[in-house]
Amino acid sequence: MDLITALEGLAPELERGLDQASSLEELEGLRVDFLGRKGRLAQIMGRLPQLAPDRRPAVGQAANRVKERCNALFEARKSALEAGRDAQALARFDPSLPGRAPWRGSLHPTTLVTEEICHIFTGLGFEVVSGPEVESDYYNFEALNMPPEHPARDMQDTLYITDKVVLRTHTSPVQARTMLSRKPPLAVVAPGKVYRRDSDLTHTPMFHQIEGLMVGEGISMAHLRGTLTAFVRAVFGGDTQTRFRPSFFPFTEPSAEVDISCCMCGGKGQVDGEPCRVCKTTGWVEILGCGMVDPAVYAAVGYSSDVSGFAFGLGVERVAMLKYGIGDLRMFFENDVRFLGQFA
Ligand code: DAH
Repeated sequence: MDLITALEGLAPELERGLDQASSLEELEGLRVDFLGRKGRLAQIMGRLPQLAPDRRPAVGQAANRVKERCNALFEARKSALEAGRDAQALARFDPSLPGRAPWRGSLHPTTLVTEEICHIFTGLGFEVVSGPEVESDYYNFEALNMPPEHPARDMQDTLYITDKVVLRTHTSPVQARTMLSRKPPLAVVAPGKVYRRDSDLTHTPMFHQIEGLMVGEGISMAHLRGTLTAFVRAVFGGDTQTRFRPSFFPFTEPSAEVDISCCMCGGKGQVDGEPCRVCKTTGWVEILGCGMVDPAVYAAVGYSSDVSGFAFGLGVERVAMLKYGIGDLRMFFENDVRFLGQFA
């Protein structure tokens, strides 16, 4: 067959193929078949050298026309298929749906409760201070009236870095540091991380505490009671009852633990006739330890024995669990956004 006839047959044949093609993939297959490097047009043009030189220009011109025509056919079909695809996508799209709001972060409940508690105490005239998490044995224990053989220093509770350096097991060392660097009167709260060799359902190796300390002239147990009662009512509501139970801490004398009326059952010990699982039917839950600063601590920091003051220490996660009714301590550390998002 003569080359020009062969060339001119290509466009109609491509057109039939394009009519039947129903996807952009099929279209691309046809383009390669007809116009590709080894396609039909290229094969016909491969025979050009067999022609006498004077006939070649006419064939070349025919080839260019056919190529342009094929390209145009191809582009037209492509636009049609693309328009169809877009129309289908639009049909699935409902423009009346509300837009998707971007996710907003929220503060962690531990942070929220820490900020709330510090805010309450600054409102009462306390100042927020901090101390190191890697602490010397001296501040963590010795200055707080815990000599080397004291049971609280037992290896199973304390994470040691060296013989004389520990991860602080409580925020109480900030008491000693504050008194060493300031003169009374003073009133401070010290929030921060503490560490213990302890890990089970109700204990994590790291948790948060807030320490409080007020020292001055004539500070009594009544001031301690008034301050902590005001604090408890601010966090848990004005109806909350407090109860001070005698206790023991090496750095306070006398010492007490403070219970509040259970926020789950309102102190009744039962919820809908079932035993309350938060207070275990007692109607009370413990929230902090406190006491009057022991004279041995004043001696360690070089304060005169004329001063008096109180101290307290509380667990932030514990307060958050009671305040928000969170049943599982692990929630604080898993960082599941479905949990965290509830505090936005
Ligand atoms: N440091 C104690 C603890 O971690 C808590 C504590 C009790 C702190 C009594 C105090 C206090 O300041 O007076 O268990």
